Amino acid sequence: MFNTPEDDEYEFDFGNMGWFPPFSMVYLAAQINRFRRERRQAQYRALNHDTNTYAAHMGFFESFDLHYGNLVGQALGSDTYVPITEIRRDQLETGAGAVGDAIEENAGRLAEILTRENQSQTFKTLQYSIREILRNSIEHSGTDSVLLCAQYWPSKGRVEVGIVDCGIGIRQGLARNPHLEINTDEEALRLSMMPGVSGVAFEGAPTAHRDDVWANSGYGLFMTSRICMEAGAFFIASGNASTLIAGNDSNSYEQTFNGTAIRMLIDINRVQELDNRLRQLHIEGQEIAAGITGINTQGASPASVSASMRSAD
Ligand SMILES: Nc1ncnc2c1ncn2[C@@H]1O[C@H](COP(=O)(O)OP(=O)(O)OP(=O)(O)O)[C@@H](O)[C@H]1O
Ligand SMILES: [Mg+2]
Repeated sequence: MFNTPEDDEYEFDFGNMGWFPPFSMVYLAAQINRFRRERRQAQYRALNHDTNTYAAHMGFFESFDLHYGNLVGQALGSDTYVPITEIRRDQLETGAGAVGDAIEENAGRLAEILTRENQSQTFKTLQYSIREILRNSIEHSGTDSVLLCAQYWPSKGRVEVGIVDCGIGIRQGLARNPHLEINTDEEALRLSMMPGVSGVAFEGAPTAHRDDVWANSGYGLFMTSRICMEAGAFFIASGNASTLIAGNDSNSYEQTFNGTAIRMLIDINRVQELDNRLRQLHIEGQEIAAGITGINTQGASPASVSASMRSAD
């Protein structure tokens, strides 16, 4: 898309897009918004958008200012989906230190919409994963806004969640850690998913707030990517790289995304068996972290440990 030659007029044809999964919608919305920001002077025309009622209902077209269908966040989402929703840092700041709690609340609300309950392991796993990815965008991306969209397909037993921010990206986020030498975006993605690897928590980092439950520990992406890897698939795109992990397979693709875009796919039939694995995963993470120099080996911050693991203490 960004290789398109400069012109005064562009046409976006949505006619061939029969299927609008949540991640694709927020990813594409961010890309179209970037394209329009970079080519402000041009005229834009949309074709065949009016046949895509699901996307229109989810707020897809309004997410890049094409006035058709619901506004972002407008659909009620009382079924088994969360429409395209913007979460803004300024809306979360309800008091000192309350951002973490507000993210937790938001993640819980979204997980409850998707599962229609708030007790099961599926609910807890979703709340945990959504919270960790939202926290990262709010804490590390340098932007104020995150877009999220999710759909649960009960008949397929699958949930997909897409979360994107247009911030500094993973490589620059990690560059704040002087112990890490990172040469490519692909390397940054790989490192970010390792336990204890953080742009803000490292040997010699300022220790202020270390006793805060929301203090970073470098475990959010490790745990979340492992959860999805074992119970579905995890896709992360940032800068010029992207990685898709499913089961034992990991594949890298070139693409360009100015910020961080994450897709979590969870097969809910596999979440029950994951329950026992979470604690084990966390211990494995600490063991892996202990073998890497200069990173945080203290283990996850309390907030990075899932509710189920905490209740098992
Ligand atoms: N959306 C993002 N934008 C920029 N950098 C990010 C983003 N998400 C993650 N990162 C980078 O990747 C690092 C690892 O993220 P991860 O969630 O694993 O650990 P953490 O956030 O530092 O600690 P924890 O999640 O355990 O509190 C972050 O410290 C940050 O440098
Ligand atoms: Mg994190």
